[in-house]
Amino acid sequence: MCGIIGYIGNKQAYPIIIKGLKRLEYRGYDSTGIALLQKGETIIYKQKGKVSHLEDTIVDENLSGTVGIGHTRWATHGEPNDMNAHPHASQNKKFVIIHNGIIENYSRLKKKLKARGYKFISETDTEVLANLIEYIYEKGNVSAEIAVRLALTKVIGAYGIVVICKDEPDMLIAARKGSPLVIGIGNNEHYIASDATPIVEHTKSVIYLNNDNIAVIKRGELTIKTIDNAEIEPQVQELTLEIGAIEKNGYDHFMLKEIFEQPRSITDTFRGRIASDLSEMRLGGLLDIMPQLEKAKRILIIACGTSWHAGLVGEYLIEEFARIPVEVEYGSEFRYRNPIIYKDDIVIAISQSGETADTLAAINLAKEAGATVLGICNVVGSSIPRETHAGVYTHAGPEIGVASTKAFTAQVTILTMMALILGKNKGTLSEESYLKLIKELTDIPKKIEEILKSSKNYKSIAELYKNAGNFIYLGRGYLFPVALEGALKLKEISYIHAEGYPAAEMKHGPIALIDEKMPVVVLATKDKSYDKIVTNIQEVKARNGIVIAIVSQGDEIIKNMADHVFEVPNTHEALAPLLTVIPLQLLSYYIAVIRGCNVDQPRNLAKSVTVE
Ligand code: G6P
Repeated sequence: MCGIIGYIGNKQAYPIIIKGLKRLEYRGYDSTGIALLQKGETIIYKQKGKVSHLEDTIVDENLSGTVGIGHTRWATHGEPNDMNAHPHASQNKKFVIIHNGIIENYSRLKKKLKARGYKFISETDTEVLANLIEYIYEKGNVSAEIAVRLALTKVIGAYGIVVICKDEPDMLIAARKGSPLVIGIGNNEHYIASDATPIVEHTKSVIYLNNDNIAVIKRGELTIKTIDNAEIEPQVQELTLEIGAIEKNGYDHFMLKEIFEQPRSITDTFRGRIASDLSEMRLGGLLDIMPQLEKAKRILIIACGTSWHAGLVGEYLIEEFARIPVEVEYGSEFRYRNPIIYKDDIVIAISQSGETADTLAAINLAKEAGATVLGICNVVGSSIPRETHAGVYTHAGPEIGVASTKAFTAQVTILTMMALILGKNKGTLSEESYLKLIKELTDIPKKIEEILKSSKNYKSIAELYKNAGNFIYLGRGYLFPVALEGALKLKEISYIHAEGYPAAEMKHGPIALIDEKMPVVVLATKDKSYDKIVTNIQEVKARNGIVIAIVSQGDEIIKNMADHVFEVPNTHEALAPLLTVIPLQLLSYYIAVIRGCNVDQPRNLAKSVTVE
């Protein structure tokens, strides 16, 4: 979603801002803009469309200045157009502001400001905030810092903002509630951004702003206060992120790079957590909570999107190996449906970004009800790990492609480890099976490498079905969530409608759709429901559907029935999601490429969904 970058220092701000905006493109956006301070004036350039489009438009302008801010907007209030793009200036041009998040009471504030003579030129909630700050500044004759602070006490909603005041030009003011902000500390200079990706090439020393904090950022000086004006000691952290991790490194798209990274990212997920003789596994972040987890009467998994699919795999794993009942909930449903939450519930929030608004709100609800909340997150220092009682990082590395790939397999890896550790500790999983499954898990990366070797084969199938209007994905047991994930991947990046279904449910509806034009992707590796899935394939073929089957190596039965098969190496059925999802990622990727879609930044989607 919206991205923020700001700079104050002795270098030229524009090149830093424009490059930073390009680094933020992965979050998903529809318009972009910058503001630069030049000799006491703030100049703004903004327009609908891509960052490179803005760059081309303003190439001949005077872009000098050592203080600047930039924004990528993902429309919430008002359509994506030049006027609604950020930055927004206040009416008398005293303040310029960029904003992530939503000001929920903006229409009430707008009405009051209108009554006091303010006119609005955009439909955004952000312009309301800019004018509110200016109104307080002028009416109260206070400093910019105080005006921002007082304005924020009137605001209901979520925000990450950066403000420039033209009367106080050597300063940026940033504030956070909900939407994350990170400050980079350079040499007599500071950076501010919505995540670390635009900062890492400049400095590794960062401060994550906490909720209700306001930062006054000058070239060589930084002050952080609470919204109640109490100064707080900034906690400086070192980024472990490497610049190579956020570049394409020769791949055509980040998504392809991230698909190919999975042997390494899964290894990173269990690195240091599995003993070298494969006799033991531990998840350091959960050690203290383990006794409570083992006693849990119920686990609630909360997530959105792909992370929710990982959660579903987690349900199957934990119920099978640890025999603890698990419910998997969408954050958005959980938070609004008055759910039953017991004090001894363990809630596991799964999130790649660690910022998903609905998941965060669900966590807070669970915490208020007294439950213990754990996080499984990828982005270090993000909000969810900070809001939860304990948790584990997936260590998949930065995921830039909007469609999640390596984050999913890392999440499933963690859930597998959790289920196995819990099962062993509880005695519901034998020592022998535990050891066998650890071995199987550590073999997964090289099995994925094998699948990736034949990645080119997916191109020809993609070519055949690139114009299909619909796809169905079917799976049973552990492979049902994979079917959902495969369908999601396809619709996200190729815009082909796709549905994931439990294979047996097909006859309760989707079978009506099957004809000679319908590709049906069937996850059919050898497991306890193999015979049943073979029957489902026959049902599709009997109606002339096209079957693309993902099968275990050497499967001759399905090969003779299906139109196309992709083989994956054999593994324990509980680990099959980690292998079978790879062909589905590749298939979606190549279909989207052939259709000319913007694979890394699909239309309307955002990488990190920070609004509800
Ligand atoms: C967005 C992304 C998805 C992601 C979902 C949940 O919709 O485009 O890829 O699965 O949010 O995000 P999270 O960061 O919480 O895993």
